[in-house]
Amino acid sequence: MKVLVTGGAGYIGSHVVRLLQERGDSVIVADDMTAGIEARLDGAELLQLDLAAPDAKSILAQTFTDSEVDAVIHFAARKQVGQSVEMPEFYYEQNIGGMANLLSAMHATGVEKLVFSSSAATYGMPDVPAVSEDIDCKPINPYGETKLIGEWMVANAKRAWGLRGANLRYFNVAGAGWPDLADTAVANLVPIVFAAIRANKNPVVFGDDYDTPDGSCVRDYVHVLDLAEAHLSALDYLDFDVRPHDTFNVGTGQGSSVFEVLAEIKAVSGIDFDTDVLERRAGDPPFLAADVSRIEKALGWKAKKNLHDIIESAWNA
Ligand code: WQD
Repeated sequence: MKVLVTGGAGYIGSHVVRLLQERGDSVIVADDMTAGIEARLDGAELLQLDLAAPDAKSILAQTFTDSEVDAVIHFAARKQVGQSVEMPEFYYEQNIGGMANLLSAMHATGVEKLVFSSSAATYGMPDVPAVSEDIDCKPINPYGETKLIGEWMVANAKRAWGLRGANLRYFNVAGAGWPDLADTAVANLVPIVFAAIRANKNPVVFGDDYDTPDGSCVRDYVHVLDLAEAHLSALDYLDFDVRPHDTFNVGTGQGSSVFEVLAEIKAVSGIDFDTDVLERRAGDPPFLAADVSRIEKALGWKAKKNLHDIIESAWNA
């Protein structure tokens, strides 16, 4: 199969590119290279392109035709929650505009299969212990809104012209499947703590007075390699004519608190550091974990790696 992977030079995308190549699929990566790293590509063909650019639609359509692309996995997007609050128009332009160009090019050239990177950020602040895909989505920032709208675009294209789409709602992704594909951004808890240790600073905990077992926030940390495998399962699922669901949580179903993550980092690194407890961070739900029953049943996918595997692989990388 020939797969175009947008954002394939990024942290998560490059894991999927490698798995696709390992199973013998041929890959074209479309990436604007603002956060992408070429060394991650293992020689996959690179189309350097901003999907939101005025000529992106025609360039994509040409690529789909010339290269006989069968399916698209769409990662390329801006993904910093805080930045999305500061620059909402940019997030709409990039994430929604880019996806509109992508879907138009797919429609024009008859490329019917799409796996879309959605996010648990679509849920907002749910007050249930394990979130199922059916609860009302109430995103609380422009980033989460763009991901929810992306899911609506998938649903509309399905109705209008028969797109076969699957939306994967990622929970907290961390770890490394291979050392050279590590997350180089310092934007989420695990890399932030590693950066603090390296700088001889105390990692910080945003609030220890939540109504959770140890007072810190609980999240569902999923290993990037497990997540990458979920994309291959989703792609294969799109071949079935009867698909009861289009949207799937991708998590472990297990919650870990900030203090548990820090304890695991101490155990894996062998470094004993102090932590500073700060005020709660605005917009943090106390508890966010996935109900993973749908993806297990429909895609036969289940996370294999636990918090220890995540921290150990990230630390080694
Ligand atoms: C994890 C936990 C923090 C840093 C974000 C996006 C979400 C999704 C995943 C993409 C929280 C706490 C953090 C620190 C801390 N992204 N924390 N000290 O906010 O759960 O999810 O990434 O789709 O949309 O919002 O991830 O890694 O920022 O935080 O105590 O220095 O760690 O409060 O409880 P978050 P995170």
